[in-house]
Amino acid sequence: MDNMFIVIEGLDGAGKTTQIDAICKWLRESKGVDESDIVRVREPGGTPTGEAIRTILKNQSDQSPLVPLAELMLFFSSRVQLVETVIKPALAAGKWVIADRFFHSSMGYQGVGLGMLNECDTLVKLTGVDKLPHLQILIDVSGLVAMERSRSRGGLDTIESRGIGFFESIRQYYVHQVHVGNLLCVDGNRPPEYVTESLLELLELHM
Ligand code: TYD
Repeated sequence: MDNMFIVIEGLDGAGKTTQIDAICKWLRESKGVDESDIVRVREPGGTPTGEAIRTILKNQSDQSPLVPLAELMLFFSSRVQLVETVIKPALAAGKWVIADRFFHSSMGYQGVGLGMLNECDTLVKLTGVDKLPHLQILIDVSGLVAMERSRSRGGLDTIESRGIGFFESIRQYYVHQVHVGNLLCVDGNRPPEYVTESLLELLELHM
């Protein structure tokens, strides 16, 4: 069984963390992958530089918010740093990489949500990040579920507080990517154990 780079996408509150926990457990327990051969990353973040960028992105002040293009480019800076210093070396060493979000998040949140599809597309092409993942899976929840789950987790950060219309437009982008075959999809509105079951079936099919 060859190692893979698997990306989990979805709106805030879709349950990505819980499902990534389940994927890692399944790799260890059912596929015999050693713990040290599983690398888990999150975006933005996953490197010291990326974590610093994450703090800037998530805590933009009302007085000096980032302009949209600066926001987009910071997400890509964090991503390129992660790709070059963590993801590529891990894959080259035969490790599995499981990512909480990747470039489709930028296409959805900044491309569609902030009206910068062309700019985002240019950065995807420039960095070549679309060539890296072996599998990308959407955990699909509605904009309303995303808003409610984010709210119940505590205060909304800058991006989460952009509202239901923002989330709905991103969901439409994600669902379109499923229809054109760029993302696989599981229904995230169900209880977590059912979502895990569908997710593992999908993985089994595509490994
Ligand atoms: P995080 O707390 O990691 O949310 P989640 O657990 O849902 O991933 O915060 C990441 C936030 O950044 C989230 O609101 C989505 C947003 N985001 C973008 O807007 N563009 C991107 O390219 C990425 C990777 C994330």
